[in-house]
Amino acid sequence: MNNLHPIKNQTSKIKHQSVLIADEMHNSILSLLQDAGYIPDYQPNITRKEILTSLANYHGLIIRSKTVIDAELIEHGENLKFIGRAGAGLDQIDLEAVKNQGIQLFHAGEGNRQAVAEHALGMLLGLFNNLLWADAEVRNGIWKREQNRGIELANKTVGIIGYGNNGRATAKCLCGFGCKVLAFDKYLNDYGDAYAEAAEMNQIFEETDVLSLHIPLNLETRFLVDFNFINRFKKPIFLINVARGEIVSLTDLMEALKSGKVLGACLDVLENEKLNKLTNSQQIAFDYLTKARNVILSPHVAGWTHESYRKINEVLVQKIKNSLP
Ligand code: 3PG
Repeated sequence: MNNLHPIKNQTSKIKHQSVLIADEMHNSILSLLQDAGYIPDYQPNITRKEILTSLANYHGLIIRSKTVIDAELIEHGENLKFIGRAGAGLDQIDLEAVKNQGIQLFHAGEGNRQAVAEHALGMLLGLFNNLLWADAEVRNGIWKREQNRGIELANKTVGIIGYGNNGRATAKCLCGFGCKVLAFDKYLNDYGDAYAEAAEMNQIFEETDVLSLHIPLNLETRFLVDFNFINRFKKPIFLINVARGEIVSLTDLMEALKSGKVLGACLDVLENEKLNKLTNSQQIAFDYLTKARNVILSPHVAGWTHESYRKINEVLVQKIKNSLP
């Protein structure tokens, strides 16, 4: 890992083209930024306090999910021209503060959308075919066929909420499985395409067999999927959440799984991903989910492939370059 400009060696002189990389990234980010005319400063272990004290020296800041961008941080970035989010989610960023300061914000959602889509599909196929349980049984010398009878995706209706990078890539991945794909996106017009039919929420509630979430986390979507929301579906559903954990209430999901309103769940993200800091109710729900045969879990890795690790950098630096006057 190159530390091209360790913080301790910096003078107070402003380097107008310096870019602080405040999290771990594929090392291609260094040459990509250099080729674009920037001086990257790779500081993956930098603390928030250190960011605050050195931010005035930088023209650009590249972050991942661990760096919270709030008004305090923005105030310290008096020379900041852009922030690059090496990933898709912007939920840890105070968008208003960034905008008010005239700082450009770039995300790299195009870089990991294929990874997210393939992961969502992989989880669903794994769940439908009991792959994790069947595998564990065979490894233990257990040969059960009837108990591991699967479910087919063909002829199911998949409801996608959020038809941006991830929703669309997921719909595209579903092509060829012979399922009907409905998509709802509150913020888009005319978004129906070869992969999905644009639908209103009423139609999604009416027809969905498999619900897949591809929306950002914000005040509007936090705990959107709760008891009431789940009860609006006409049929029992399977749920895929590869978006953000706090969109789905874990307790309400547990109850819906118990009652059969939700037939199974694919969860790459959880309401609280700090597993040693769960509240009592989160712990009860988590314990239930980890024992349930109709639940498949992964540790927030939809989007994390060897390919996306590089693609995120390429997308991000290209966007930064495109924005140059
Ligand atoms: C994203 O928003 O792209 C993913 O959640 C991954 O983000 P992270 O790698 O910064 O945690």
